Amino acid sequence: MQIISTKQELLSIVEACKAQHQTIGLVPTMGALHQGHASLVTRSVKENDVTFVSVFVNPTQFNNKEDLVKYPRNAAADADLLQQLGVNYMFAPQPEEMYSDEEMNTTFRFDFAGLDAVMEGKMRPGHFNGVVQVVSRLFYLVRPNRAYFGEKDFQQLCIIHHMVERSSLKGTFGDLQIVDCPIYRGADGLALSSRNARLSEEERETAVNISRVLFLSRAWAKKYSVSEVQQMVVDTINSVPGLEVEYYEIVDRTTLQPTDTFAHAVGCVTVYCGPVRLIDNIQY
Ligand code: PAF
Repeated sequence: MQIISTKQELLSIVEACKAQHQTIGLVPTMGALHQGHASLVTRSVKENDVTFVSVFVNPTQFNNKEDLVKYPRNAAADADLLQQLGVNYMFAPQPEEMYSDEEMNTTFRFDFAGLDAVMEGKMRPGHFNGVVQVVSRLFYLVRPNRAYFGEKDFQQLCIIHHMVERSSLKGTFGDLQIVDCPIYRGADGLALSSRNARLSEEERETAVNISRVLFLSRAWAKKYSVSEVQQMVVDTINSVPGLEVEYYEIVDRTTLQPTDTFAHAVGCVTVYCGPVRLIDNIQY
């Protein structure tokens, strides 16, 4: 596996792949890789001639400086894992390589057609502008045939589909296909996340209650209304010492607007487990 840190080098490698008509898979990540990422990468390696994985903690998507500083980083272990998985290129640029000073300090604005007005977008103003800024840049640089994203960040995935299929950028990325990959859970049910690395052993055990309650809510959905299920999830998670729900929304899977039926619905939750903010979701 080759590690690339400059755009120039990346562009010339992509050019060479395109000249040989190789299909390209891209897995954008912020590093601190775990088995969830590995499942996306393995799929890309299987489905494409060449796989690029970007490892870049994107500063423009953090609206909280402390969260950016504390975000786990482990470049050496990431490189080892990617090498073992058969990745061809790891792109690990510094922020100065990705953005000019001006780009770093001015807010990139993108029309989300309201998809960013709810949940993560509401709680973390500017977050999705930063995500789209970096993801669109990676798409322009790597020109992938397929790009892989996890369903754990459900709203992010919806917004990326919107960017590629429905926004003014439609068609800009050629025949790029966005591949949705299922949430990867530990044997105890906890959704894998780079942020789990910040949980103590005790907090990790507590965090398992998040997915446990979400799974329970599926059974409840057969008997109770959306608002009753919503209330049960919030109250049950909040009753666990050490957990505090920030929001739990049951929304339509495409529009992300609140819904009062379980058809085509997804429930998205954000919970503080001690100081660590965790997200998860469940399809009904
Ligand atoms: O999901 C993530 O890790 C990030 O938001 C992404 C898509 C790599 C953009 O920085």
